[in-house]
Amino acid sequence: MTIWGTPMPAIIHAGELSKHFKVFKHHRGIFGPLRNLVTRESTLVRAVDRINFEVDPGELVGYLGPNGAGKSTTIKMLTGLLVPTSGEIRVDGFIPWKDRAEYVARIGAVFGQRSTLWWDLPVIESLDLLQHIYKIPQDRFEQNLGEFKELLELDSFLNTPVRALSLGQRMRADICAALLHDPKLLFLDEPTIGLDVVAKERIRQFIQHINQIRGITVLLTTHDMSDIEKLCKRVIIIDHGKLLYDGKLDVLRERFGGKRKLIVYFVENYENISIEGAQVSSREGTRVTFEFVSKEHNTSELINKISTKYRIRDLEVREPDIETTIRRIYEGRLLEKS
Ligand SMILES: Nc1ncnc2c1ncn2[C@@H]1O[C@H](COP(=O)(O)OP(=O)(O)O)[C@@H](O)[C@H]1O
Ligand SMILES: [Mg+2]
Repeated sequence: MTIWGTPMPAIIHAGELSKHFKVFKHHRGIFGPLRNLVTRESTLVRAVDRINFEVDPGELVGYLGPNGAGKSTTIKMLTGLLVPTSGEIRVDGFIPWKDRAEYVARIGAVFGQRSTLWWDLPVIESLDLLQHIYKIPQDRFEQNLGEFKELLELDSFLNTPVRALSLGQRMRADICAALLHDPKLLFLDEPTIGLDVVAKERIRQFIQHINQIRGITVLLTTHDMSDIEKLCKRVIIIDHGKLLYDGKLDVLRERFGGKRKLIVYFVENYENISIEGAQVSSREGTRVTFEFVSKEHNTSELINKISTKYRIRDLEVREPDIETTIRRIYEGRLLEKS
C-alpha cells in the first residue's frame, strides 16, 4: 500500500508460516496403555501449512475457514502463544513468540472460546488489574473505560463475576479488556461464536467502530459468513491449513459466485417475458425472478433492457449467497483462476 508515493510497510507479515502438531495414537483396551508406551505411533497434523499474507495498517481482515481449518492456530502464532514450526511472522516489527513481553503491550487478543479475564472477579476488578499490569495512565484508562462502557453497554454487569456472565456479556467484557491499553492491533478469534443475532450485531458494530474511528488494525477469525459480509472488505480463506483465497469479498463473489438474481415487480401481468442474457427462474403474477451470471452481464444493463420492453414498478437485486460461494471454494471445484 502507498500513500502519496510513500510505501507503507505491512503491519502483519506471515511468510511460509507453518505449524505442525504431532498427534500420538491412543490404543484402547487392556493393553492399550502399554502399547501407547511402546509404539508411540504418531501422525503429523499440518494445522497451518506454508501460509503467506500481509496486512496493512488500519485494515480489517476476515480470516475465514471451516472448523479445524487452522484459524486458531494462526491467531495463536500471531499473538505469540505458539511458536511456528517453520516460516516467519513479523507484527509491527516484533517476532511475536520471541518478543512476547514487549509485544503483548502492543496488541489486544480475544478468544471466543475462553475468557482472558479472572473467572471469580467482578468485571470491573479484572479491568482494574489490567490497568496495573499494562501500566495504563489513569486518564487514558478512564477515558477508554468510559467510552467502551457506553458502546458495549457494560454498566449492568460491571460488578458481576465473570463466571456468572452470559456468553454475550463475557465477550463484551473481554473485548473491552483487550482494548484498554490502546493496542494498535486487535486479534479476535471467533468473537461471535455462540451468540444470538442481536448480540452478534452489537459486537460487529463495535469492531467496525474501533477500526474506523480509532484506526486499529483488526484480524478476526470466524466460520460465520455473515460476520464477514457485514464487516470485511478483504477476506483470507483457509482450509486444511492452506490458503485458498486472499482478496476482496466483491471479487470473490464475482469470480466464484455463480448466479445473481433480479426480482422485478411489473406494472402489468405481461404474458411472455423474455430478456436476452437472463432466465426467468420463477414467476408469481407480476413478480418475476430473473437469474443471470454476474460475470457476463452487469445488473444495470439488464435493468435497462427490461425497462425498455416492459414497465417496472419495483425491483430488488440479490447477490449470490456468500455461504454457497464459499462452500464451493472449500470444495475446491472453482479454485483454478478464471
Ligand atoms: N495442540 C494441538 N495438538 C494437536 N493438534 C492440534 C492442536 N491444536 C490444533 N490442532 C489441530 O490442528 C488443526 C487446526 O486446528 P485449529 O487451528 O484449532 O482450527 P480452527 O480454529 O480453524 O477450527 C485441527 O486439525 C486440530 O485438531
Ligand atoms: Mg478455532
